[in-house]
Amino acid sequence: MRMTDRSDLEARLDGPDRIAPPEAFVDGAAVTDSGIHEEFRERWPECWERAADMLDWEREWDEVLVEENAPFYEWFVGGELNASYNCVDRHVENGRKNQAAIKWEGKLEETRTYTYQDLYREVNEFAAALRDLGVEEDDVVTLYMPVVPELPVAMLACARIGAPHSVVFAGLSGKALGTRIERSGSEYLVTCDGYYRRGNAFNLKSKADDALLKVDHDVTSVVVDRLGDTLPHVDDGSLDYHELLREHSGAEVEPVPRDAEDLLFLMYTSGTTGEPKGVEHATGGYLSQVAWTSRAVLDLRPEDTYWCSADIGWITGHSYIVYGPLALGTTTMLYEGSPDYPDRDRIWEIVERNAVDVFYTAPTAIRAFMKWGKEYPERHDLSSLRLLGTVGEPINPRAWEWYREHVGGGECPIVDTWWQTETGAMMIATLPGVDDMKPGSAGPALPGIDAQVVDAAGEPVPDGAAGYLTITRPWPAMVRTLHDDDERYVDEYWTETDDVPASRASGDSSERSSDGGWRYDAGDGARVDEDGYVTVLGRLDDVLSVEGHRLGSMELESSIVEVEGVAEAAVVVGTADDGSGVFAYVSTESGRTGDDDLRRRIVENVERTIGEFAAPSRVVFTTELPKTRSGKIMRRLLQSVARGEPLGDTSALRNPEIVGELKSAVRDE
Ligand code: WTA
Repeated sequence: MRMTDRSDLEARLDGPDRIAPPEAFVDGAAVTDSGIHEEFRERWPECWERAADMLDWEREWDEVLVEENAPFYEWFVGGELNASYNCVDRHVENGRKNQAAIKWEGKLEETRTYTYQDLYREVNEFAAALRDLGVEEDDVVTLYMPVVPELPVAMLACARIGAPHSVVFAGLSGKALGTRIERSGSEYLVTCDGYYRRGNAFNLKSKADDALLKVDHDVTSVVVDRLGDTLPHVDDGSLDYHELLREHSGAEVEPVPRDAEDLLFLMYTSGTTGEPKGVEHATGGYLSQVAWTSRAVLDLRPEDTYWCSADIGWITGHSYIVYGPLALGTTTMLYEGSPDYPDRDRIWEIVERNAVDVFYTAPTAIRAFMKWGKEYPERHDLSSLRLLGTVGEPINPRAWEWYREHVGGGECPIVDTWWQTETGAMMIATLPGVDDMKPGSAGPALPGIDAQVVDAAGEPVPDGAAGYLTITRPWPAMVRTLHDDDERYVDEYWTETDDVPASRASGDSSERSSDGGWRYDAGDGARVDEDGYVTVLGRLDDVLSVEGHRLGSMELESSIVEVEGVAEAAVVVGTADDGSGVFAYVSTESGRTGDDDLRRRIVENVERTIGEFAAPSRVVFTTELPKTRSGKIMRRLLQSVARGEPLGDTSALRNPEIVGELKSAVRDE
């Protein structure tokens, strides 16, 4: 992990004030016991049984945690359960079959509601269909779909038969899909004919077809008809989803008991290299922590209507649109569209019409809402909202305040939840019925989680100082390994230490471990204040957040460098007013400036190789990129130039003369 220089980190600091959770909220909150942090500390790891107890287990676990092969930790060992049973059947059995499980809002303002009974029926039928197609336990099924109800149905159908799913975000290109299918050895693909963006139909199937051309093995495809006659349906041997349901009408499939440690799903995510990492999540620990945090942090209860505006194709959607809320028997909203179509009050219109209780989104969206103005939320009655959440990036106190006031009416607690694809579930956040909030700071590590900010040598830094965010003890929803790459898993995330974490050395868990442990490196910079509140400062490696989607800068840069005529490229993000937008600096082979044709080819190549969402909104040509004497591109400088901010210390540059040129290139572009 590379560390950005200190001044860069300090520049991102901002002093938070303390705000107590609103009393009216605390009165009805799911967790109000202020001793919970202490209780979890004292009873670790058994405290995590509280999370596991929220689920129905086919067989009780023998041991909460096995550390023998650390950092390949195992949770709830010996236990057996089925995720689909926990998210669907048990609610039907508990007399709640008529409650809405999924409420879907389509792009063209269509709506669809699935009760738990409807969900039960369709999950069973599709599970039966998958089995008939030959899907067996442990076969990976790839899902490449926009936010339509068939996506969670397919995920749960896979879980039902013990087939891990690998969902690929529909905004990723066919090429990216092909790589993921090839890597995971997946022989089944469920996709969609197309989707709508801003009212226009886009062809997804043709992207999937491109992907399959590059895959060496045979793949059976199922296609969901989303667009009807809008797109021609070619008879190419792929199967029709709804036809399969009809053929399996009324079929029932026994949920397969899975070992707690069996793979529930694979999720590819970007790392610092161009190679996507196949993050593996295990059934028992993942579902336990996701259910527990949905309740303790999002405060979800079965009668709630809850909306997380993420895409299901990313971890946030997996954990907090599908598995967490459905495990609790909540109504979860799905929204296929854009926040500003047909108008900029679309989100608030949906919140009002559905009387949404809990809303969870990303700072990039909040910054956009802020930019559009308070008149849009003001058009609607948002009084149904009880709690607001944010995830994905640091949120600055100003956006936090705006969210609280103009969306929450000053009465909703805000949970700023820090976590990652690899952590599977929330790790750092305030418990909204217990902890005070500090705008800009995510909060204390959740009960049962040990976070520590350390320096490059692994020593804890003093309160308030910036350092590396690490997690010093395992947690149930943690990544188990990277698909087919145990070595990279250990290298990338873990450092062996001699320390015995403080809480482990005391109380009844002291016998569990004697000789040190492992430290998980999150890849983020952070600082902790005197109250143990963690302010996350952002990635320290070259991973970007593009409109809330995690992307390696290396992936983007390689895609740009592939274009004929390009010599070198460096990308930064967060330059538009709302903090989004990819900004690409490009030097050409001829050493001269590029033209519009080159700019167009760059954008097209990024769309083709990565996906439309990652296309640079600005391409700036320069004769050279700013580099340190050791040849490393100075991204911080590029970011400041792009944002028109002060440049800070440039003494490390080998080619300081380039700075003036860059500034005028940005101005003129
Ligand atoms: C960032 C998304 C600040 C962080 C769930 C992390 C955050 C990366 C927060 C993971 C937050 C997530 N405050 N930064 N509340 N939440 N991040 O894997 O840099 O898509 O490492 O998981 O998002 O992104 P990922």
